[in-house]
Amino acid sequence: MRWATIAFGLTFFPDVVCAQSFSWTQYAPTGLEARAVTTETTCPAAEIDGASVVMQVRAKPNEAFPVLACAMSVPPAAKTVKVGGVLLAAAPSMPKRIAVFGDTGCRLKGHYVQACNDPQQWPFRQIAEMIAGKKPDLIIHVGDYHYRETACPGSDAGCANSPFGDNWDAWRTDFFAPATGLLPVAPWVMVRGNHEECERGGQGWSRTLEAQPFDEAKGCNGSSPPFIARFSQLALAVIDNSAASEPVGDDKLAEVFRAQYASLAQQQTSTPIWLLQHRPIWSTGGVVAGLPFGDNKTLALAARGTLPAQVQLMLSGHHHIFQVLGYAEDLPTQVVVGHGGDYLNKGRAANPAGWPINGVTVKSGVHQTGQFGFAMIESDGADWVITNYDRTGAPLHRCGLKGRDVNCTSE
Ligand SMILES: [Fe+2]
Repeated sequence: MRWATIAFGLTFFPDVVCAQSFSWTQYAPTGLEARAVTTETTCPAAEIDGASVVMQVRAKPNEAFPVLACAMSVPPAAKTVKVGGVLLAAAPSMPKRIAVFGDTGCRLKGHYVQACNDPQQWPFRQIAEMIAGKKPDLIIHVGDYHYRETACPGSDAGCANSPFGDNWDAWRTDFFAPATGLLPVAPWVMVRGNHEECERGGQGWSRTLEAQPFDEAKGCNGSSPPFIARFSQLALAVIDNSAASEPVGDDKLAEVFRAQYASLAQQQTSTPIWLLQHRPIWSTGGVVAGLPFGDNKTLALAARGTLPAQVQLMLSGHHHIFQVLGYAEDLPTQVVVGHGGDYLNKGRAANPAGWPINGVTVKSGVHQTGQFGFAMIESDGADWVITNYDRTGAPLHRCGLKGRDVNCTSE
């Protein structure tokens, strides 16, 4: 049988039934790892700096996931990483062009039915290709990959034949296939969303993308401990807050997250810290009767007075909008990048300056609705520029970030 390999991580047989492999690099608690998911019965051949390395089996196939998940550590000094003949991204010492996006899957849940077969209605593949074209050196997915939970209604051509449920078909269709072109471009940081909780898409998450080791006996890990991806002038703290509920402050859960936030002060790093967590804290999904709603009461209980001064920025999704919020209080800037493909939040764009959100006040920022897209955060010497792009790669907003202060303009 002859193999054919196309660029960007997908290797396939040109026969009727395709064998498929997806491969990428991502940060884990122990540093960078190369990962692969394959329909083959063995892990793909791998090389680091030209020397053969054997990938370890991360998760064996089962009925719902008839694929092998593989992993191997990549030393920080590695220059080249190859998996299945595909060149993957090694670790940058300091990323300068960081892509951020999230909430990317296609919504099939009960009466929420997105036209997954129509790229105009579900544009994640286009967005992934646009991001690849921006040549990032780090890629952050802020969570919510898996959205196909229930069957497409029989009469609906927009989503006809879509797979659904926590299984490989749905995961491949919602994330891996549309992300194929982006997977090998740069190392990823994968953040867990509430769609990856164990009762939703958690099996696929724990098998393939979760930073922590897979536990076959459990099949899905519960909430994961935080970890940090370290660079020469930046630390990315990844928090799994998928279980933290918005409307009512949960004291017990708040205690868990308070300890996680407080532990950031003990990190042996003098660099700024960016907090990567799917659910934002003092952020709103929209405005009803002039009042912002949708902020997270549980996380606010945990974070108030706890977030160390080193935390400069919080990157989240969950609300299907693009939003930047600088606060009147001494708090990190919040950026919400949840417009990567799933149904967008309804409501109008607004100037968030002056919004009161659960005891804090927005000083300035952006609240954009109704546009799919992604963000790039690029180094500007000592500071950063955050750009919001639409699905075609056209810039819509630019925000300068200096310390915790943010200053945005529209294009
Ligand atoms: Fe979410």
